[in-house]
Amino acid sequence: MKNKVLEALYEKKGEYISIDDIASRLEIPVSSVQEHITSLENEGYTIEMSPKGEFKLKEELTLLLPTKLKKELTTTYIGKEIHYFREVDSTNEVAKKLAMSGAPEGTVVIAESQRRGRGRRGKKWISPLGGAWMSIILRPDAPPINAPQLTFTAGVAAAKTMKEEYGLEVSIKWPNDILIENKKVCGILTEISTELNVIDYIITGIGIDANIDLDSLPPELRDTTTSIKSELSQDISRMKLVRKFLENFEGMYNEFNQGNFRDILNMWRKYSKTIGSKVEIRKGTEIIKGEAVGVNSEGALILELKDGTLRKIISGECRHI
Ligand code: BTN
Repeated sequence: MKNKVLEALYEKKGEYISIDDIASRLEIPVSSVQEHITSLENEGYTIEMSPKGEFKLKEELTLLLPTKLKKELTTTYIGKEIHYFREVDSTNEVAKKLAMSGAPEGTVVIAESQRRGRGRRGKKWISPLGGAWMSIILRPDAPPINAPQLTFTAGVAAAKTMKEEYGLEVSIKWPNDILIENKKVCGILTEISTELNVIDYIITGIGIDANIDLDSLPPELRDTTTSIKSELSQDISRMKLVRKFLENFEGMYNEFNQGNFRDILNMWRKYSKTIGSKVEIRKGTEIIKGEAVGVNSEGALILELKDGTLRKIISGECRHI
């Protein structure tokens, strides 16, 4: 119903509408309209009130407002429910709470900025305004061992989106860092909840440095990070970026669910910067050096060590050397 109130405001295209009009149109009490308006304001919408007590939605063209986002979204279930925030600690955290309370598969959480964005391996993920920070709730009918495959799926969907929509020469560093040249432009964090060896839910968090000015980042990140804006020397439509990503992701997730991970992995291999490179993998205090010769069907990296033996790496911090 909250979304219906939003639609009523949205359809007025920046003109005032009275609370009574909304209430009679939606056949709900005025008090309940008021509650929904307050809740929309808490989510980040700016709703102005006239001296006569009428309401108007302030159009903010560059924000990732769900009503607008959904308008041209061609997915069938990813992004049918979108929870939008101006600022949260972490969209993965919000998505986790929603998943625990039964939110359906495909629910998306988007925030304009994050206070405590989370990266892989317990790192912070700096998430200022201008990025695309989102998390998707998934409930695949698959064993937990297949969960890393979803990280690959999201990585390929992100790389494909950036390549096809903006012509960017992206590559993927194992397992899921999207790079342009050697700088990171997008990261993916997959978190899983299991019950009795079946997946209860998976949260796939994607962070894309879209319209980020590099000099707004902490100095230690500036040499290793890039943004779409910085690569193209212009702002992009984050709305289009997010829509295309969700559409690509849904297509690939359907493939995953049909058991076609092999095709996704082949696409991943085409984007991979790691296969064929000399790498150093850091696993706690252990450092393993070798040549990355492949990835297996679980997404593990296969390293050929100096003595010619092969070693399977399931997780670790990968650095190209
Ligand atoms: C990485 O370390 O490469 C993964 C970064 C993942 C960042 C995204 S931004 C949206 C979602 N919410 C989070 O807190 N993290 C992920």
